[in-house]
Amino acid sequence: PQPHMRLLRGPLLSFDADPGEGDTPAAGSVRHLEDGAVWLVDGHIHAVADHAELAPHLPADIETVDYGDKLMMPGFIDSHVHYAQLDIMASYGRQLLDWLNDYTFPEECRFAERAHAEAVAEAFLDETLRAGTTTAQVFCTSHPGSVDAFFGAAKARGLRMLAGKVLMDRHAPEALVDDPLGGLADSERLIGDWHGRDRLGYSLTPRFAPTSSREQLEATGAVLRNAPDLHLQTHLSENEGEIAWVAELFPECQDYLGVYERYGLVGPRSTFAHGIHLDQPMRRRLAEAGANVAFCPTSNLFLGSGLFDRLACREAELATTLASDVGAGTDLSGLATLKAAYQVGQLRGQPLTAWQGFYRLTLGNARALHLDDRIGRLRQGGEADLVVLDPQATPLLARRTARCRTLAETLFALMMLGDDRTVYATWANGRRVHQRDA
Ligand code: GUN
Ligand code: ZN
Repeated sequence: PQPHMRLLRGPLLSFDADPGEGDTPAAGSVRHLEDGAVWLVDGHIHAVADHAELAPHLPADIETVDYGDKLMMPGFIDSHVHYAQLDIMASYGRQLLDWLNDYTFPEECRFAERAHAEAVAEAFLDETLRAGTTTAQVFCTSHPGSVDAFFGAAKARGLRMLAGKVLMDRHAPEALVDDPLGGLADSERLIGDWHGRDRLGYSLTPRFAPTSSREQLEATGAVLRNAPDLHLQTHLSENEGEIAWVAELFPECQDYLGVYERYGLVGPRSTFAHGIHLDQPMRRRLAEAGANVAFCPTSNLFLGSGLFDRLACREAELATTLASDVGAGTDLSGLATLKAAYQVGQLRGQPLTAWQGFYRLTLGNARALHLDDRIGRLRQGGEADLVVLDPQATPLLARRTARCRTLAETLFALMMLGDDRTVYATWANGRRVHQRDA
C-alpha cells in the first residue's frame, strides 16, 4: 500500500534538553523554526527542517497543511489521570478522603458495566485530544473490563497510552474491591492482552497504600520484579489525613514511601502522584530509584492538598512530571495545568518559566516516563504526535499576543490565557485526530 504522507508547514517549537530555570533557556535546549516543516510518513516523522531546506526533497504531490500563523509542538503528555472520573470533575467541597468516599468510589462502581466504560473512554479521549494531549498514564477502575474498554478505544485511535487496572482489596465499597491474588491474576491477563500491543503499555496500578493489603502489595512487587519493562502508578503523600492513616495501617514502615519501598514498588518506571508532603531524604530516596513524582496543580488546589515544592525536587535530582489528575483535577488541558503550576509556584516563590513549563509538558514528561525514544519532541524517526496551538484563538488572546515581542512572551501568554480553544488541531500517529471549528 501507498504510505500515508503529509507535510505540516509553519512555526514549530521542540525541546532537545531541559531548558533549566533561567529566563533564557539553556544553550541547545530549544529548537524553534519560524517557517518549519514536519514531513509525516505513516505514523512517524520522516524529517523536520526549515521549509526551504526540505522543499527540494519533497515528493511533488505531497499534501501540505499550512499552519502559517500557528505554532506546532510535540503532543502534550499527562503523566497521571483517571479516565473513570471524567464525570465527577468539579464535585464540591471536600478534601481527599471524603471526596473519595462521597464521589469517587460511587462513580467508579458504574464501570462494572462494560458499555458504560466504553462510552466514558471515548468521551475521555475526545476531550484529551481536544486539549492537545496525545499520551497519558491512566488509572482505570478495579474492573478488568474498564481496562479493556480504555485500551480498545486508544488502540482504535492509534494513540500511545499507558494504563492499568486499579488494585484495591480493602477500605473501599464491596463492589470495588478485588482480592489480593485475583487482582494480580486479572492484571496479568490484561498485560498479556495489551502490553506492547501497537502503542499501548501497561502500568501496574495499586491505588494507594491504604487500599491494598500487604499481600497485594507483595504480589504487585513480584510481578514488577519479573517484568521490569512495566510501568507502575500510585499515589503518595497527597494529604495530611491520608498520611496519618498510612502511618496507622503500616506501623512497621519508616514512613509512607517506606511502604512502597518495602514491597519493591519504587523503580525507574514508577510514577507517584502528588508527593506534596515529603522531606528531602524521601525525595532523595525516590530520586535514587529513578522514580518520578507527578505534580498535579489543579488537583492539589481543588482538594486543598498543599503546594508542591518543585524546586526541592530539582535539588534532590528527583524527576517531576506534570499531570491533570482529573477528576480531582479541574482541567484536562495541559495549558490549564501550566497556569495552575505557575500559580502554585508563585505562592512558593518558585515561578515557572514558559520554557520550563512547555518542556515538562512534552520532552520532560516523556523522559521521566521513559518514552523519549518515541515521543516528546519533533525529530526524525520520532512518532508523529503533534499539537498545533493558535496564538489568535480568542479575541483576547489575539490582542495579547499581538503585543508579544519575543517567543518567551508568546509562550507565557499561551500558558496563562490558553485553554482547549487554543488547540487548533491535534495529530497522532501521523493522522489528524482533532480539528477545532474555524
Ligand atoms: N488517592 C487515592 N485515590 C485517589 C484518587 O482517585 N484521586 C486522588 N487525587 N488521590 C487519590
Ligand atoms: Zn490520582
